[in-house]
Amino acid sequence: MELGLEGRTAVITGAGNGIGAATAAFFAREGAAVAILDREAKAAGSVRDAIVAASGKAIALDCDVTDAKSVSEAFDHVANAFGRIDILVNNAGIVKDRAITRMADEDWTNVIDVTLKGSFLCSRAVVPIMRERSWGRIVNIASRSVFGNPGQTNYSAAKSGIIGFTRALSLECAGRGTTVNAVAPGFVETEGIKRLTNFPVLRDAAVAKTPVGFLGQPDDIAAAIAFLASERARYITGTTLFVTGGRYSS
Ligand SMILES: NC(=O)c1ccc[n+]([C@@H]2O[C@H](COP(=O)([O-])OP(=O)(O)OC[C@H]3O[C@@H](n4cnc5c(N)ncnc54)[C@H](O)[C@@H]3O)[C@@H](O)[C@H]2O)c1
Repeated sequence: MELGLEGRTAVITGAGNGIGAATAAFFAREGAAVAILDREAKAAGSVRDAIVAASGKAIALDCDVTDAKSVSEAFDHVANAFGRIDILVNNAGIVKDRAITRMADEDWTNVIDVTLKGSFLCSRAVVPIMRERSWGRIVNIASRSVFGNPGQTNYSAAKSGIIGFTRALSLECAGRGTTVNAVAPGFVETEGIKRLTNFPVLRDAAVAKTPVGFLGQPDDIAAAIAFLASERARYITGTTLFVTGGRYSS
């Protein structure tokens, strides 16, 4: 299936690592120009270099999605560099897992801020640009954790909020050529997760609960994001696509 991403421009937040990095590479292979935004400038630069070395088009920008000034500077930079922004993937996210009795104020605030404030600030920056061209795609990254995981009250709340944010924004953008959807990944075997000391235990537990019997790879999520960002998905808006290998419960 031809996705029609050739010639499109995409901003992907948190694209210095994991799912975001895989999505940037996927989009670049499909012929899109990508802006890799991350607060880890070095990681973002490495993803850019790999894409450019493979003859793709990419720029890397140091951006903290929770900081309004940093976001507005980054989007101005991308709009100047590419002349347009067609696609935004609100992917930046963090976890600070703790039982609620041990959860510090900043564990709560930081997780909510990166996911919700970050998606709000970045969407607010691109919607006028998308409206101008009457075409746009926003894909927000939620999580299977919306069904609840112990130790993740902050993360589950943030990701549930993303689903409501997606529905509300989709209605604001409907009729102006811009769709807004979410992708909710299950357990994905990113490099970061593989580095955890208890990874083998986590992996085995997750596989046992995953109906398809294996864990998702970053490219499985990138493919879902790319489809929702494509012309082919023009009649889909306000929805959340669960990419979880059939796992829904905790
Ligand atoms: N990996 C999984 O199993 C999984 C499952 C469900 C949902 N998700 C979601 O997918 C997304 C990507 O997850 P991942 O596993 O690839 O994570 P990751 O930690 O590998 O990458 C996240 C990136 O976001 C960046 N980031 C964090 N805070 C930022 C900020 N304030 N401004 C800019 N960049 C920031 C980090 O520097 C990092 O490069 C997240 O939203 C995460 O919640 C992941």
